[in-house]
Amino acid sequence: MTVRSTGRDSSAADRPAPPRPRETRVLTVSNQKGGVGKTTTAVNLAAALADQGLRVLLIDTDPQGNASTALNVDHRAEMPSIYDVLVDGTPIADVVQPCPDVAHLWCVPATIDLAGAEIELVSLVARESRMARALEAWQVARNEAGEERIDYVIIDCPPSLGLLTVNAFVAAQEVLIPIQCEYYALEGLSQLLSNIDLIRTHLNPRLHVSTILLTMYDGRTRLSAQVADEVRTHFPEQVLQTTVPRSVRVSEAPSFGQTVITYDPQSTGARCYQDAAAEIARRAVPLEEDS
Ligand SMILES: Nc1ncnc2c1ncn2[C@@H]1O[C@H](COP(=O)(O)OP(=O)(O)OP(=O)(O)O)[C@@H](O)[C@H]1O
Ligand SMILES: [Mg+2]
Repeated sequence: MTVRSTGRDSSAADRPAPPRPRETRVLTVSNQKGGVGKTTTAVNLAAALADQGLRVLLIDTDPQGNASTALNVDHRAEMPSIYDVLVDGTPIADVVQPCPDVAHLWCVPATIDLAGAEIELVSLVARESRMARALEAWQVARNEAGEERIDYVIIDCPPSLGLLTVNAFVAAQEVLIPIQCEYYALEGLSQLLSNIDLIRTHLNPRLHVSTILLTMYDGRTRLSAQVADEVRTHFPEQVLQTTVPRSVRVSEAPSFGQTVITYDPQSTGARCYQDAAAEIARRAVPLEEDS
């Protein structure tokens, strides 16, 4: 079954539909290192999961708004956005937009206003858990309105460990860390892991690193293979089998306001993100086991 609304041939059609998780899985895509593939991973996994029939919400928490751009969701400065949710307590229902190119995929956009939110949040009540509360309230409201439950919430984080990322950590159960296969890949990782430990101890006991995805893998270099080996040795449970290679199609899709899943569904990059999404979905406790 294909669910995409673009009318292109879908490679999702030749895949078994992934199981719906027993409860909404909230994954935050984080790494304080810049440019490692967080946004690319967040939007392509979101689109791949939605393309396979699951209901997905992507929350953009990066003032750069790159995830909103890739999903072709309006995020001009005057648009209601995650800023209004975090700073003014606006309900998610008032800011969420459907992704125009992928059925079952919604986006809470980020606008440039969010750049000031790190500072504005400092003086607010429950500053670390404002996203968690908003997400919880939205899910309760959907349920009461008889709307279908969301299967996946994917949060794209900025490259920092400030209050925006802390809000994402408090709202999520799972952290997905993209690691770029290059020399300094593991630098800063211990700081990220110790921040996650702090959040688990003080604010969100369910939080854990469930998934690591190796990105921008270059099979021609020894370095990529060495980094991949090292990460797999340290995190044998978390690293996905699928690695995402460097791919021109992946990098050019956002300039067309698209994910690679809709831009070129048969490309290697699209297939890798579809495989990664299927691996992630298989790790969930399926709905059928909840009896
Ligand atoms: N598999 C890939 N192949 C080629 N280019 C890629 C791939 N993944 C990401 N890129 C490119 O690398 C750059 C950084 O990727 P991306 O924006 O996803 O990283 P990020 O971690 O979200 O960055 P930031 O820290 O600024 O938020 C982008 O130009 C993106 O198009
Ligand atoms: Mg990004």
